[in-house]
Amino acid sequence: MPQQSCDSEKTTHFGYLTIPEKDKVEWVRRHFDSVAKKYDSMNTLLSLGIHYQWKRMAVGMMGLKSGDLVLDVCGGTGDLSRMAAERVVPSGRVMLYDINWEMMAAGKPRIESSGHARRISHVQGNAEWIAFPDDTFDAAMVGFGIRNLTHFEIGFREMHRVLKPGGTLMCLEFSEPVTPWFRWLYDFYSFHIMPVVGKVLASCRPAYTYLPESIRLFPDPDRLKCILEEIGLKHVFYRRLTDGIAVVHVGKKE
Ligand SMILES: C[S@@+](CC[C@H](N)C(=O)[O-])C[C@H]1O[C@@H](n2cnc3c(N)ncnc32)[C@H](O)[C@@H]1O
Repeated sequence: MPQQSCDSEKTTHFGYLTIPEKDKVEWVRRHFDSVAKKYDSMNTLLSLGIHYQWKRMAVGMMGLKSGDLVLDVCGGTGDLSRMAAERVVPSGRVMLYDINWEMMAAGKPRIESSGHARRISHVQGNAEWIAFPDDTFDAAMVGFGIRNLTHFEIGFREMHRVLKPGGTLMCLEFSEPVTPWFRWLYDFYSFHIMPVVGKVLASCRPAYTYLPESIRLFPDPDRLKCILEEIGLKHVFYRRLTDGIAVVHVGKKE
């Protein structure tokens, strides 16, 4: 449970819980430790498989080309890394960067059987201090991960920093449907069905309560576009997927 925080201690959110800012990384790490082994199968079940289409479309919007060096921030089990690797053959490479070794380990068998294992490297680290020099990558992407950071703007600044001039940043993140009846249905599904399915199939209700709560606290697509522009990205645009359940933002470093 969150500790009582003294007045001077900065707080942040973990879903709808208020916790000391300094503890968030540890809460997020424990959360993904608890879901790592079932992460891929639960994602497929809860999204009815649509998350693969979203990821494929998002990677398609990055304009990757043969030979590109790509960073997959919060890469987890590596879906985006595998999809990017397909596009940068034969000489390109992907760095899958995640704070949680359990998540990366859970995805390794699929990476190994994809035929792209030698093109994908795993690096463990915090997205708020990316362990690469300035101007390194042709593209940097983050899928369903930036929401989990203690300071997501710092994560974006770091992605911008490690991009080469002319490089592409892509963010795929959950949002909320725009059509009212569909939004109502989605809210009902995510607050009432998803946690129960999470409890029954993954023995982990809190993890699937955190998911919809953290989505509601994340900036809407227009606000996120402004944030990316404030960071220095140019030509930022976004595209809503499945009525806005997921949104892809793309921008360029000048
Ligand atoms: C919801 S998963 C997304 C995984 C993958 N990108 C996908 O689309 O399936 C979020 C990932 O973000 C990682 N993560 C959370 N906070 C992080 C941080 N501060 N630095 C690096 N990775 C982080 C978690 O370990 C987890 O693997």
